[in-house]
Amino acid sequence: MNYRRLGRSGLTVSEICLGAWINFGGRIPDEETFAVLDAALDEGIDFFDTADVYAGGKAEEVMGRWMQGKDRRTLTIATKCRWRMWPGPNGEGAGRKHIMDACHDSLRRLQTDYLDLYQIHGPDRDTPAEETLRALDELVKAGKIRYFGWSNYDAEMIAENARLSESLGLNRAISLQNNYSMLVRGTEERANPRCAREGLGLIPYSPLAQGLLSEKYLSGEVPTGARAEGNEGLLKRLQEHLPTLKALGEFARARELSLSQLALAWLLHQVPMAAPIIGATRPEQVRENAKASGVKLSLEELAEIETLLGGKKP
Ligand SMILES: NC(=O)c1ccc[n+]([C@@H]2O[C@H](COP(=O)([O-])OP(=O)(O)OC[C@H]3O[C@@H](n4cnc5c(N)ncnc54)[C@H](OP(=O)(O)O)[C@@H]3O)[C@@H](O)[C@H]2O)c1
Repeated sequence: MNYRRLGRSGLTVSEICLGAWINFGGRIPDEETFAVLDAALDEGIDFFDTADVYAGGKAEEVMGRWMQGKDRRTLTIATKCRWRMWPGPNGEGAGRKHIMDACHDSLRRLQTDYLDLYQIHGPDRDTPAEETLRALDELVKAGKIRYFGWSNYDAEMIAENARLSESLGLNRAISLQNNYSMLVRGTEERANPRCAREGLGLIPYSPLAQGLLSEKYLSGEVPTGARAEGNEGLLKRLQEHLPTLKALGEFARARELSLSQLALAWLLHQVPMAAPIIGATRPEQVRENAKASGVKLSLEELAEIETLLGGKKP
């Protein structure tokens, strides 16, 4: 496993991150979650992402149980707040009251004294950006969080927050977590140059387009129990992208890679990439995906991939 600096910060993380959404505390039982997390550690993955809203707090709880007995210093734990967690007007948002209370709840569920990376899960246009920044800055100063970052933010919001942090002399965000993969470009790719300029590292979510960019859908059939089963949105995307997926699958095979390894390696060649956040329901998936770390793609290969993707540019 290779390791990278997260943005322009002193934090180093494995270039593959493992995320909790849908699977942990939800689709898979706790013992299987533990096996997936253990496989990640075995592969050298030390960077884990969750959120308070995942499985209504259960994802953080199961990760908290798994962390017990581990050397906390060797783990980089990221979580998020912003979406509704309790009733009432301050049960959601990026205002000071919600952020402070949500942070304490996450610390309790994760059974830890601090969070390595605390992310605002989505923009809150009803709260002044300065209030959000000051609350996050105070959490850093209080030692409850080490760093903070944004999720689902666009280039303009990143720029505005960077300007504001600078002018107020506050700590700055170090990461951006948006939807970004070979099949989903757009917002995140448009934000890439801004992130590079402002020192934010990219930690894209759904880097395998929720599993579509893996070997298992290449026949066009959906295996029993797979995430696309009964998921109309994913099934529609599978039909839409199947010819591209097959072409990418062949391209990967010619280089002795699996499609998921190629999809992750391609992301790892984008700037300013830090670590795609994979999801997994089985240890074997983690082991396969971890092998994307260190795969080198030449400029010619990247250009060929661009052609297979339909020459789409941001
Ligand atoms: N900030 C946000 O708004 C936001 C939104 C979404 C996600 N996220 C973060 O990003 C993380 C990853 O998202 P994601 O789960 O959508 O990522 P993903 O890596 O695109 O998809 C993960 C799914 O793909 C399948 N898969 C993975 N590796 C495979 C392999 N080698 N072979 C076959 N199938 C494989 C598994 O599905 P099966 O169930 O079919 O086995 C797995 O659950 C989340 O856990 C969360 O931390 C953040």
